[in-house]
Amino acid sequence: MTPDIETGNELIDSEHVQIFDAVNKLLYACSNGQGRDKIVYTAEFLAVYVSKHFSDEEKLQRKCKYPNMEKHLKFHTQYKKDVANFVLKTKTEGATVQTLGELNGLASKLINHIRQEDKRLAAYIRKKS
Ligand SMILES: [Fe+2]
Repeated sequence: MTPDIETGNELIDSEHVQIFDAVNKLLYACSNGQGRDKIVYTAEFLAVYVSKHFSDEEKLQRKCKYPNMEKHLKFHTQYKKDVANFVLKTKTEGATVQTLGELNGLASKLINHIRQEDKRLAAYIRKKS
């Protein structure tokens, strides 16, 4: 993971690594013509893991009474919907140029969120503890 997306919070960072690992596996599976089963399995893993990660982050926010929580959770809710739609699309359409483009879009959306909001959250947790 590159330093610009490292938040400094051990739990958050280790889960981000798992998410990017899943994204990379999925990109690899799609571009290497692996079977639809494998692609759908990897997409579903990504959706489940993103959900787990967001709820862990939300627990941290509640614990430290994070002032920016509402805005942060709004992003999480929308992002989970986007990932769920992506999984559905992958299931019905398989790996197309369009789904690959969407996966790249989802990854960069998350990177932007990490760079701004997750870093802000990690800094707040550090300050509070
Ligand atoms: Fe977040």
